[in-house]
Amino acid sequence: MSAFAAAAGADDGAGAQLGTPAASPSVQTIQIDLGDRSYPIVIGPGVLQSASSWADLPRAATAVVVTNVTVAHLYLSALKQALSLHYTRVLEVVLPDGEAHKDWGSVNTVFDQLLHQACDRRTVLFALGGGVIGDLTGFAAACYMRGVPFVQVPTTLLAQVDSSVGGKTAVNHPLGKNMIGAFYQPVRVLCDLDVLRTLPDREFSAGLAEVIKYGPIADAAFLDWIEEHMPALMAREPKVLAHAVRRSCEIKAWVVEQDEREAGLRAILNFGHTFGHAIEAGLGYGQWLHGEAVGCGMVLAADLSHRLGLMPASFVARLRGLIERAGLPVRAPDLGAQRYLQWMRVDKKAEGGEIRFVVIEALGRAGLRTAPDALVGEVLAAHSV
Ligand code: NAD
Ligand code: GLY
Repeated sequence: MSAFAAAAGADDGAGAQLGTPAASPSVQTIQIDLGDRSYPIVIGPGVLQSASSWADLPRAATAVVVTNVTVAHLYLSALKQALSLHYTRVLEVVLPDGEAHKDWGSVNTVFDQLLHQACDRRTVLFALGGGVIGDLTGFAAACYMRGVPFVQVPTTLLAQVDSSVGGKTAVNHPLGKNMIGAFYQPVRVLCDLDVLRTLPDREFSAGLAEVIKYGPIADAAFLDWIEEHMPALMAREPKVLAHAVRRSCEIKAWVVEQDEREAGLRAILNFGHTFGHAIEAGLGYGQWLHGEAVGCGMVLAADLSHRLGLMPASFVARLRGLIERAGLPVRAPDLGAQRYLQWMRVDKKAEGGEIRFVVIEALGRAGLRTAPDALVGEVLAAHSV
C-alpha cells in the first residue's frame, strides 16, 4: 500500500460544535480521481451547516433532500437552511427508517415525489442519512430522467467510511441483498464528524466493522493503529475519529480509482461480506445491522483464510479480539450450513453458482478464493452460536 502511504497525524477536530465554519483548518479533502466522474470527499467538524460546503455544485433551481424520519428530526432543517443559499427550491422526501425500507417501494416514493413536484433533469438530490438512504438515493438519482446529480451527506460512521464513497447504489430484493442497483458516482461527499455524536452505540460499533476491514485487506499499519486506538475510538474522541474516517476514505478511494466497477480488486472491500450478507438475509433484513453481520463475517472469513493455509491461527484470534472490543458479535447465528451456502450462492461475487470468498493472503493483502463446502461448514460450526 505504499502508493497511498498514510498521512500519519490526526487532525484537530476537538471541541467543534455543529455549525463550525468549513473554513476551519481541520477540514480535510480527499479527491477521488475517476476522470470525468471525479469528486471530493470533504471531512471535518461542522461541514454540514457551512454554506461553502455546498458551493460549486451543478447549477440547478431545485435541491431535494432525501432522508428518513430519524435523521430528519436531527439534521434536516440545518441542511435545508444551508442549501437555501444556493437553490431556489429546497424540497424534502422523508422515508421510514430501517434496512427493511431499502426497497423498490422507497425508490418509487422518491420518484413519485420528484414527479409530483415537477423536478427537472437538473435537480440535485442530497442523501442525508446512513448507508440505507445513501444507497437508495443514489439508485434513484441514477434512474430519474436517466440520471440526475446527487450528493452524499453520510450521517453514520459506516456511511462516512464506506458506503458514501465509490458509487455503489442499490436496493435489496427479497431474494438477495443489494441485488438491484447501479454504479453511479455522487458529485460530492460531505462527512460532518459532529453528526456522529448522536449515533446510537450499536450503530457506531457497526461502523467500526467497516473501519477495521481496511486493515487486513489493505494496510497492516492501520490495523495496528486501530488496535492501539480502540478505547479512544469507542469514546469517539474527535481527533481519533477524524483519522479513522480519513484513512478509511483514502483506502477506499485508492481501491475504487483502480477498479470502479469491480472487475477485480474492488472485491476485496467485501471482506466478511459474503458470510455477512447471508446472516442479514437469512435472519431477515434489520435483525442484525449490516456492520454487525460484516464484523462477524470477518471472523468467519479470517478462519477460512486460516483453514485454506493462508494465515496463522493467531490472526483469527487477533481479528476476533479486535471485533469483540469494537462491541460487535463474533458468533454467527446457527442458520444451518446449507442455508448459509444457499444464500452465499446468490452473492454478486459468485460465478456459475460457485461462491468466491474474500480471504486474507497476508496482513494488508486480500484475494478471492473458492473453498469446498465441507471446509465452509467447518468454519460455520466453529463460530456459530
Ligand atoms: P442505516 O442507514 O440504517 O443507519 C443506521 C441507523 O442510524 C438508522 O436508524 C438511522 O436512522 C440512524 N442514524 C443515521 N445517522 C444518524 C445520526 N447521525 N444520529 C443518530 N441516528 C442516526 O445503516 P448504515 O449502517 O449507515 O448503512 C447500512 C447500509 O449500507 C446497508 O444497507 C449496506 O448494504 C449499505 N452499504 C453500502 C455500501 C456501498 O458501498 N454502497 C457499503 C457498505 C454498506
Ligand atoms: N462496500 C464495498 C464496495 O464499495 O465495493
